[in-house]
Amino acid sequence: MHIDTLEKRWLYVALVMIFLFLGAIFYTAFARNVHPPSHVETIDSASLHLSEEFAEDKLGVQPKPLADGTIQVKLVAGRYGFYPRQIEIPAGHRITFRMASMDVLHGAHIPMTNMGTMLVPGFVSEVTTTFPKPGEYPLLCNEYCGLGHDHMWSKVTVVAADNWRAPTTGETGHD
Ligand code: CUA
Repeated sequence: MHIDTLEKRWLYVALVMIFLFLGAIFYTAFARNVHPPSHVETIDSASLHLSEEFAEDKLGVQPKPLADGTIQVKLVAGRYGFYPRQIEIPAGHRITFRMASMDVLHGAHIPMTNMGTMLVPGFVSEVTTTFPKPGEYPLLCNEYCGLGHDHMWSKVTVVAADNWRAPTTGETGHD
């Protein structure tokens, strides 16, 4: 079969691009630990405040870590903020965020980390990650949700593990 030289070159260009894209997927998945959320759990967005898990006094960093030491953080997203507005977590620990939207579609994103997920009304989003370095991180909304979208963010403070103390019940950090 005869293939024109120019055609052959474009074939190679296309093949190289395919392997580049595949490489990018494998690199982010295995080296950077970026995965699509695979967690499906439903909840009634309109009555989060009455729910067992997302009632106002249950939000924030949970007083008791899970059996394997993972620290749980519960957040509610609503126009225009993530509640509680500030959380403090230790560096180097596994942190599981459990989040739900009380109104429309939002996105939860902490730049320069692998923490990012959509918050679809009616579903609980769960992301587990580790912050290697202490610092102040913004938790931003990255899905357009209305006029205040640009101002929808909360503060995540990561402190050295030695300086961190689990909140006691009743002071989970909400304002
Ligand atoms: Cu919430 Cu944009």
